[in-house]
Formats: sequence, structure tokens, C-alpha cells
Amino acid sequence: LPSAFMRKFVVVAVIAGCLPTFAWGPEGHSLVARIAHAQLTPAARARVDAILGPDTTMVSIASWADQVRPSRAATAPWHYIDIPIDQPHLDMARDCPKGDCVIAKIEEFRKALNDPAIAPDQLREDLMFLIHFVGDMHQPLHCSDNKDKGGNDVKVEFFGKPTNLHSVWDSGLLGRMGSQERLFGRLLTESESHAKKWSKGTVEDWAEESHKAAQKTVYGRLPKVAAGTPVPIGAAYEKKADPLIRAQLEKAGARLAAVLNSALR
Ligand code: ADE
Ligand code: ZN
Ligand code: ZN
Repeated sequence: LPSAFMRKFVVVAVIAGCLPTFAWGPEGHSLVARIAHAQLTPAARARVDAILGPDTTMVSIASWADQVRPSRAATAPWHYIDIPIDQPHLDMARDCPKGDCVIAKIEEFRKALNDPAIAPDQLREDLMFLIHFVGDMHQPLHCSDNKDKGGNDVKVEFFGKPTNLHSVWDSGLLGRMGSQERLFGRLLTESESHAKKWSKGTVEDWAEESHKAAQKTVYGRLPKVAAGTPVPIGAAYEKKADPLIRAQLEKAGARLAAVLNSALR
């Protein structure tokens, strides 16, 4: 007979397996928060700690926005911006007409950090969203759409396992990149050494860069198959994808630190 522990484990595993995956998975958001936290000024670090409150860190809340997404439907579009894959540039009037996309929300919440009229609980939530969304926008499929919900509708076989293109970029590839500890050390060194250059530009520039990466690599390197057949993704694709994933995580961490360092003096 299965033990109570095993039964509980199976129930949890089955439920977890049925949940949709959102955004960079928890690992991507955790890495971005760790890389950013290491690059905060003492003043910004103190303000972040004060806003978040006791027993809460940037890392512990980095995926909170995904956890509340099912119960707060209005926030779902805040995690991405659908820049058409066949367009050369972002057009906020075309791609974010209602102001409820990831770019508009990053701008809104970064301004909120300097708005004295905002109540502490609201400010805390805005900071938690900001930390999450700077990570999200660096996942190329959170800044791109090929009439496929940012790749969610593209069926793939990832090293033989059926899944979708969006999920591969949120967590599939990252999950095969080795231990988070080793990855973190390497990413942080790279992030710090390029931080100054990478922090230049606007949030819109960063979105266009993410979108270009989707054109060139995410879709550009995808094997062509007959319509209706799952796209096979394996070692050749992974070899092009992994350096992009590393670069996007390094940039996200450096830029999140820059946003917080400038807002929280
Ligand atoms: N739904 C529609 N477009 C999406 C995108 N780019 N990323 C995640 N979810 C989406
Ligand atoms: Zn998200
Ligand atoms: Zn996603």
C-alpha cells in the first residue's frame, strides 16, 4: 500500500503537472532577482527591504505575480507585450493600446516608487510587480507574438517530450542548464561586467531587443515542419538558445538593479 507521504506526493505532483506555466519559471525569476540584488546600492537595498517588510526578500517574492495571476485575471496581460513577429519595431499605440502590457506596467510601477501619495501596501505590491515584470520582458516570447499567444499555441517536442514553444523558453531550456548555484555565479560575473552598457536605453529599447532575439533565434532557428506536426527541438536548437537565455538573464538582472538604484535613492 502506498504510504500517506507517497499518496500526498502523487497528488501534489499530479496537480503541479496540470498547472499552466507562466513567464520565466520560478528559476528564471529567482536568478534575475539574485543578480539584481547583488548590484543594488546600499541605499536601494535598504529601501527595498523596508518596502517589502520582514522575512521577505526580492528573491522570495520574484514569482509572486505569477501566483496571483489566476485569481486576478485583469493582471494577466501585464506579463507580456505582443509585438508582431513580422514587425521591425515596437509601436506602443498598436501593441499596447490600453496600457495594460508589460512595458506600460514597468513604467507605471517604477514611477510609483517615487509617488508620495501611494499607500505602503500598494507600494509593496507595485514593487513586487516591478521586480517580476523586468524579468518577464527579457523572455523573448514575452515581447513577441506570431498569432500564437507568444508561442503558447506552438506544439513542440522538446528532447522527445511534448510541450509548447513558450514553455520551452520559460523553463524547459533553463531547466537543462545545470544547477542554479553554478549558473548564478557565472551570470552575476557577466552581468556586473556589462551592467553599465546594458543599463543604457529605455524600457522600450529593451523590449525591442527582446523582440529581435525572438525573430532571430526563438523563431528563426526553429526547424521547419509540415503544419500540424510538433516542431522537434533538441541539441542543435539548444546550442543557439542557451547563450541567448544567459544574456537575457544577465541583462534583466543588471537592468532591474539600475531601475531600482535610480528610483530608490
Ligand atoms: N498570451 C498572449 N500573448 C502572450 C505572450 N506573448 N506571452 C505570454 N502569454 C501570452
Ligand atoms: Zn510573469
Ligand atoms: Zn511566460
